[in-house]
Formats: sequence, C-alpha cells, structure tokens
Amino acid sequence: MAIQITANGFRLDTAHTSYFLERVAGDYLAHTYYGARIGADSALHLIPTYFQNYNAYPADFEGAEASVCLQTLPQEYGTTGGADFRTAPILIRHTDGSATLDLRYESYRLFDGTPDFDAMPFPYQNEGEDVDTLEVTLVDAPSGVRAVLGYTVFEEKDIIVRYTRVQNGGDGAVRLCRVASAQLDFVRADFDFIHLYGAWAQERQISRRPLAQGKQGFASLRGTSSHNHSPFFVLCDHTATETAGDAYGVHLMYSGCHETTVERSVYEDTRAQIGIASDSFEWTLCAGQSFTAPAAILAYSEAGLGGMSRRLHTFIRENICPAQWKGKPRPILINNWEATYFNFDEEKLLSIARAAAPLGIELFVMDDGWFGHRTSDNCSLGDWTPDRTRLPLGVSHLAAEVVQSGMQFGIWVEPEMISEDSDLFCAHPEYRIAIPGRAPTVARHQYVLDFTRTEVIDCIWAQLKDLLSSAPITYVKWDMNRALTDAYSSSLPPARQGEFLHRYVLGVYDLMGRLTREFPHVLLENCSGGGGRFDCGMLRFSPQIWCSDDTDAQERVCIQYGTSLGFPVSSMGSHVSAVPNHQTWRSISFDTRAKIAMNGTFGYELNVNALSEEERAQIPAQCAYFRAHADLIQNGDLYRLCSPYESDRFAAWAYASADKKELLLFAYQSKGHANPVDLFLTLPADPSLTYTDEEGVTCGGDTLAHAGVRVHFGFGDHLAKTLYFSAKE
Ligand code: DGJ
Repeated sequence: MAIQITANGFRLDTAHTSYFLERVAGDYLAHTYYGARIGADSALHLIPTYFQNYNAYPADFEGAEASVCLQTLPQEYGTTGGADFRTAPILIRHTDGSATLDLRYESYRLFDGTPDFDAMPFPYQNEGEDVDTLEVTLVDAPSGVRAVLGYTVFEEKDIIVRYTRVQNGGDGAVRLCRVASAQLDFVRADFDFIHLYGAWAQERQISRRPLAQGKQGFASLRGTSSHNHSPFFVLCDHTATETAGDAYGVHLMYSGCHETTVERSVYEDTRAQIGIASDSFEWTLCAGQSFTAPAAILAYSEAGLGGMSRRLHTFIRENICPAQWKGKPRPILINNWEATYFNFDEEKLLSIARAAAPLGIELFVMDDGWFGHRTSDNCSLGDWTPDRTRLPLGVSHLAAEVVQSGMQFGIWVEPEMISEDSDLFCAHPEYRIAIPGRAPTVARHQYVLDFTRTEVIDCIWAQLKDLLSSAPITYVKWDMNRALTDAYSSSLPPARQGEFLHRYVLGVYDLMGRLTREFPHVLLENCSGGGGRFDCGMLRFSPQIWCSDDTDAQERVCIQYGTSLGFPVSSMGSHVSAVPNHQTWRSISFDTRAKIAMNGTFGYELNVNALSEEERAQIPAQCAYFRAHADLIQNGDLYRLCSPYESDRFAAWAYASADKKELLLFAYQSKGHANPVDLFLTLPADPSLTYTDEEGVTCGGDTLAHAGVRVHFGFGDHLAKTLYFSAKE
C-alpha cells in the first residue's frame, strides 16, 4: 500500500522512497522525511525541538508544545504572518486586508488513481499501475481558508506528484497573491542547488552551486516557461555524482510564469518552493471558490543525478507524454526552415521532399511562410489559409504530392499570434492583447492573441480544424515566438487583471487539448523560438519539443546534455543542419552533426539538393543507423558518463536497454590537442553478460562495467563516435 495512515500522520512509499507527513504540537503538519525507503513508522525524532532565541510561538502553544519552534519546524506548507519567518508558500489578503494564515491540520481523504485536475495537465495512470492519492486539508480557522495538499503516488515509478488547492471557506472575497504548488522543507542545508538557465539558442545550461545562506532562486516572468529558466530544480549532496549521493529533482508541470525559491536559514535548514510566479499573479477567490495550482513532480534517488534523471525520464515518457506516442517510433523528418527560410514555393519544397524520400527520411515538414501573404516575419499571423502565390493548389495538393513521394506531411503553425498586417487583425483588432491607452509591446513584428477569451480560441480552432481536415497532415509544429507583455484582457474586470497570465496558459492548454483530442494521429511538436517552452505541461500534449534554434553540434552537446538532467531524450527535437552553421558559423563534419542529432527525435533541416554527393550519400546509412537504434535511444535508460560542463575536451553518454542486453555509447571530442589523449569510460553493462560489439569482438560485461573501454579520437575538433554492444543469453 503506497499510502499509510500512521500514529501521527501519513507515510507515502514508492518502490525505493519514503515520504513522511506528521502532525505535531498544535496540529501543524510537519514534513519529517523524504528519501530512501525506510521501515520506521515515524521520523519525528529528526525535527529540532530546542527553543530558538527570540522565538515567537502561537498563543495556544503550552508546556511541551512550546518546544516545537515554527521557525525551524520542517513543514509541508509553511504558515504566513505568524511564527514561521521563512518564505511563505502562500499569501492571501483577507477581506480586512490582513495576510496571516495559520494553517493547521483538519482532515484527509484517500482515493485510488489521480485527481480530477480541471483544465490543467496532470500525469496519467497506465493500466495495471498502482496509483493512489492522499489529500490533506489544512485550515486557517479564523478565515475559513483551506489549503488542500495533494500527493499522488506512482509507486513503481518512484514519483510523487504534489498539488495544492486553495479553498475560500469564508464569507467574503479574498485575494490569492502567491501559491506554491509544493514546498519541500529539509532539516539540513548541505545541498548543491542545480537548475537549468539559458537564452535563445543556448537553452538549459547547467548551473550548480552550493546553497548559500538566505534566499536564492529563479523565475520566468515572460508568460511562458521561457528560454531563461526551466521550471525545474535539483537539490543534491555536495558530493553527489552521476552515480551516487542524494538527489531530489522537482518539475513544475506548467508552461507559464514560474518561480523557484530555495532558502537556507541561519539554523541550517532548507525550504524549497516551486509554483506560479507571484510577481505577475493575483487571483480573486469569492466565497466558496477554489484555485488549483499546477502539479509538481518529485523524484528522489540515492543513486545520484543519473538515478534521479532516469526516474524522471521514465515517468515523463510513460505517464506524461501522450499515451498514443508511448514507446512508438517517431518519424525521421526533414524541415525546410533552415533550407529556405521564407524563400520557397511548391516546386522548391517538392524538390527537397522528392530528393529526401529515397534517402530514408520519413516526414516532410513545411515550416513558416506558407499562409496569408507571408514573405517575411512581419505579416499574416492569424490567417491560416495557404498563400496561393506559393502554393497555387493549396496545402492539400502539396501534401498529396509529398505523400506520393513516399513521405508523411507536416506543417508549421503559430496559433497564439496575430500580425497587424493580417485579415484577422482587420476583422478583430480587439483580439490582440493590449492595454487600452497604451501602445502594446511588439516583438518579431507580432502581437499575441488574447487566449483568455473563448471566442478568440474558437476562431483559431475553426481555422486549424479546417487546415488539418483539408490534407493528410500527420505532424504539426506549434511555434510561439515571443514573450507575453501588456497582460490585460478586456473580458476581465479590473480586480481580476492579475489572473490574466495564468488564464492565458489555460487557454493554450484548452486549444492544445482540442487539437490532440480531435486529431489524435497528429504528432504535435512544440516549439517556442527553439526550446523556449520546454516543460512538463507542454509534454502532456506533445511528446517532442524543438530543443533549440541552435543546430550547431558543439552547442547541441551542451544543450541536450543539460536538458537531459530533467527531460528524456525522446522529448528533444534535434536536426542535422547545413554548414557553416546558421547560428554559430562553425563548420562541423556531416558525420558528427548526424551523430549528435541522433540523440533526440532526429531529422534534417537543410536542402538535400545543396549537399555534396559525398554528404548526400551518407544519409541512408545515418537514417538506417538511427532507425536500428531509435528504440534504445528514445526509450532506453540514459547514463551520462562525461559532462561537457566539466571537461573541455570530451562529452559522453550511453543508453542501456532495461535488461542491459543492449548498450549504445556516444562519445564526443570537442577539442583536439597536440598531444591527444584517449577517453576512458566504464559502461552501464551487466557484469554477468557477454557482449559483442559491431565488429564482432566479444567482451565480458564485467570488463565493460569495471575496466571500461578506451575511445580514441586522435587529432581534430568536433569528432563523434558511437559504439554498440549487444549480449545474448
Ligand atoms: C522559430 C523556430 O524555432 C524555428 O524552428 C522556425 O520554425 C521559426 N520560428 C519560423 O518562424
């Protein structure tokens, strides 16, 4: 049983972890333990019971209870305005303007499966999987405000999904100004804090630093989860490696503004919180109303960062990404963006498609520029009908020709946007997000549609539905190329304008839900100026996301390695592009570019007709190699072996099948030297098996696991190698 009622509260057990919630003096809900699975029924002995100087305490604390000090008590959800002086997870303005919230245990309920999560994405339960949910209600008695803390335990996956629902049980309207989805308190502070930061063409770089005194954290206020900071963080031992040490990874399943705050207190404890960004959020809760904050996904592993990542990868692949794509091969695609940009017509696209089809490429994607009269990025967004000068016979004719050539057909859209120069803007200028009396901010010459309004979503949905019904389209790239500004909707009263950014995200989920429900055979690939909206919320609708507009292999090694800390390889859109690379002007060999792009969904983004004969001749073998190993790469276990963030020469990682009978190593030399050295790696092999490599050489699993392999690159920059091993019974 994953959830048990104990003498003092509750214990949540997964196959390898335990999580304890226990009631202490005054009915505060303490968080007493989260870590490797233990047998004890209580961990109350871990909480500090000494009295801190200058302590404050609730008036109803007496005698022994006064020894529980709220400012050092690890709590499930902190209190506000009382004796807990750390960052509060919640901030509510009551009807009288005060903000104290003294949350105490009130009740619980247990149920099988996952909660009803309204309009927001939540992980799903697979058939035969043991999933249970505990909801614990805390109440602030004077106001009647409640926080319902949810814990959905995916036992075999070693994952706990947390959520928070705030209910206004009082008489008047209150203002919710901050609500963390999850808080994790620890009685220790000797952690490293890891998160993924970046920019356009430089997404998800790894930042790792020891937790410092006081508050630290990050946020996105861009309306999307953003290129700048992933809604994901890790706390781990200072000594944690890829194979050993405590590592806690937390994802927010959300695609809008988010924040993470980690506070190391002077008493050497830690409080971490993740949730919607409070700087740009305010929600009015009338009497009887409730607000559900996005889900947070928790993974712990004592096997270091590698163990933690693999738990998250499996969970994202099997319980978040749409079920119809679970374990299914993804098509090798060719996208025309970097091949043509806006300079194309049907003939040019067909010449690329017809040249690509016989090479083993399976899907042709027509990118930006096919609609309205869009010959540059300054017009036509919102008009999702084909440009007849480029596509005289429409999308359906092009799609039919592509299918005829032996490939599937996919298309690019940017549904959330509007250009001033568009039919949609002429008909409905009021659909654009703008604050009356202010000129709205412009980015890439475009504006954002007010997705808090159902009629706006309906209008775009009608167009998308027509488009997807008009042709044999099996793939959609959903792009989003600017940040949200000027948060305001004419449909909301002044007191509710603080709700805009969250309501916008709900609108996006609404439209994505319509699309994926109505066209379940369509593979949706998310994109936001590259990987600017790479989060577990988006992954609930689209199993793959364009990882970055930077297609340079050297840069991609770092971007994909960083992304893998929290996200599975199967979610990373990655393509081979032309050289000199359009983002970095670096030239890297065709072979290396392909080997690096294989660590993702794999595809090409170039004009095959412009390649040399020699390069074009490599494509069939590249496609065949990827196809042969795609299942291992996309559904196998990832082991990071050598970090490009720690080595200025090498990077390496390997995939292992669940039974370890297949191993595939990728190694990369970024920089050669006058005195070349080799890379020595131990592999995630089963010591009891005997493996054979691609050249027929056999080797014991014990040798691969303990002595390892030697990878020789010799002279040269930007070289990549693969090594494949398989074992028979
Ligand atoms: C940004 C995307 O990341 C690119 O791949 C491409 O689709 C362009 N937008 C098109 O405008």
